[in-house]
Amino acid sequence: MTLTPVLTKRFGTDQPWKVANYERLDGYAGLRKALGMQPDEIIAMVKESNLRGRGGAGFPTGMKWQFIPQNSPKPKYVVVNADEGEPGTCRDLPLMMNDPHSMIEGIIIACFAVRAERAFVYIRGEAVHAIRRVVGAVNEARAKGYLGTNILGSGFNCDIVVHGGAGAYICGEETALLDSLEGRRGQPRLKPPFPATNGLYDCPTVVNNVGTLASVPYIVLGGADWYKALGPEGSPGTSIYSLSGRVQHPGQYEAPMGTTLRELLELAGGMSRGRDLKFWTPGGASCPLLTQEHLDLPLDFDSVVKAGSMNGTSAVQIFDEDDCVVRATLQWEQFFAHESCGKCTPCREGTYWYVGVYERLERGEGTEEDLETLLDLSDNILGRAFCALGDGAVSAVTSSIKYFRDEYLAHVTGRGCPFGGSRVLAGAH
Ligand SMILES: Cc1cc2nc3c(=O)[nH]c(=O)nc-3n(C[C@H](O)[C@H](O)[C@H](O)COP(=O)(O)O)c2cc1C
Ligand code: SF4
Repeated sequence: MTLTPVLTKRFGTDQPWKVANYERLDGYAGLRKALGMQPDEIIAMVKESNLRGRGGAGFPTGMKWQFIPQNSPKPKYVVVNADEGEPGTCRDLPLMMNDPHSMIEGIIIACFAVRAERAFVYIRGEAVHAIRRVVGAVNEARAKGYLGTNILGSGFNCDIVVHGGAGAYICGEETALLDSLEGRRGQPRLKPPFPATNGLYDCPTVVNNVGTLASVPYIVLGGADWYKALGPEGSPGTSIYSLSGRVQHPGQYEAPMGTTLRELLELAGGMSRGRDLKFWTPGGASCPLLTQEHLDLPLDFDSVVKAGSMNGTSAVQIFDEDDCVVRATLQWEQFFAHESCGKCTPCREGTYWYVGVYERLERGEGTEEDLETLLDLSDNILGRAFCALGDGAVSAVTSSIKYFRDEYLAHVTGRGCPFGGSRVLAGAH
């Protein structure tokens, strides 16, 4: 197994975030080519490449662009989702730090394709370093004539506004992001209508992830067939897998979609501490857990769904036999309870109750009935919450009970967490 650097091909080169260095390695060649094409030709090419959104849901990008109503008299917008809040996910920030121009080039091409003249990059507020880096790159691109009026003599006008978010996970949900960008409290909007028709300022809007847009210049330059050949038919291209947890060398590993965890572990030097793999997330905390039996599962959108989980953000969090699944789930649920925006009852109340039950289990005060309570709560959240945060909160609970019921039962024998979690929590209450 070897790495397949496409999005990361400039990582580690001399100051790749500088426009001159970017240009030396094919930078803005995709834009030059795109400006010589018809906007609809670009949309057709992206559709043909079968690029699927890297923000989590894997929605086909070309189709999303095609939904922008070209007969609308309103301005059109492209909004870049750079909120990157999913626990375990770390690929948009490295991408923006190392190679911001690939995202900027993708944004300009997307704007040209959907006939938008303004784009907004919504970067999570805590990532001040990334905000500075992207602002610097936008200024450099503008100075070089890649942004502004009459870009490269094409007659096309386009500019980018960089916006620092306010530090809430829910602001990564695309409609909450739009509300936040408009200056309101970030809470999801009712869908439909979808952003494609009623997005930012009620205008037609494309919302795409950083990695989705950064892939576009490569597709325009290399062609749809080249891109499709990089990965499985239904999920082509590469993914930047972020490996964290009990692994020798945590970090970002770019490999074709459909790479297995066994292969990723090989790239990352194997498990740390010489212990065996116990459970892992294929795409962040919102995706059901997988186990040893899924080591050879191809990590692409379709295969992971067939195995009962989701590819999500390709955030692979790895746990070994010394890690308590109940404690790990408690910590994820603390996150979801904290980040629940409170708009709907199933998620607001359900995640709060999850935390109470998990703390009880960890303290050794739980009962067997608590497992049924957790499953009952899950039934009341899944499919009933207003947005996907609620469904995501259920994932670790139901999957950990499915695979590790015995470990839950071991927590209710009166002694509490067999991994010492009772001691950890003892001082908390
Ligand atoms: C709670 C929540 C948080 C999300 N956070 C992000 C995020 O940080 N970045 C992102 O690109 N998508 C995030 N998404 C998914 C977006 O709603 C949306 O699907 C994505 O930005 C679309 O871009 P894509 O088509 O390029 O994947 C989140 C979704 C939910 C429900
Ligand atoms: S599911 Fe949670 S985050 Fe989403 S709207 Fe309801 S309370 Fe808010």
